[in-house]
Amino acid sequence: MLASRLVFALFWVSTVTAGSAEPAIATEPDAVRQKELVRLVRQDCGSCHGMTLQGGLGPALLPATLQEKPVEGLVATIYYGRPGTPMPPWKQFMSEADAAWIVQKLMSGFPQ
Ligand code: HEC
Repeated sequence: MLASRLVFALFWVSTVTAGSAEPAIATEPDAVRQKELVRLVRQDCGSCHGMTLQGGLGPALLPATLQEKPVEGLVATIYYGRPGTPMPPWKQFMSEADAAWIVQKLMSGFPQ
């Protein structure tokens, strides 16, 4: 079964190379990358969503405004953008795991 061996190999690689202290979220970005992502969100996302993420051209990205929304959809919005709106795709600049981490942090209160 080549396919299942491939899946196993990918799983092994992603688990081992992530090197996170928390195995529960194997793909969580490492501490250095987390700092880069915080800066990216504050600067690049802040230009549309507001430096304090309270909204501007784009909607507020605060826990209270995001809590009802499905996580998957928010991750996809960041990764792929929203065609037909000013929200651009970020997949050239980050992985889906990075986008998932950003959503998780936005929903729980984004770090400074
Ligand atoms: C050029 C302006 C612009 C930039 C830069 C931008 N956004 Fe957006 N974003 C928008 C707009 C406008 C919307 C609303 C799209 C719509 O009408 O559905 C949006 C929507 C979103 C949503 C969905 C919010 C919701 O309530 O459904 C998320 C999450 C989001 N952006 C995150 C980000 C993140 C994270 C970044 C930076 C990596 C970013 N955005 C950068 C303009 C921008």
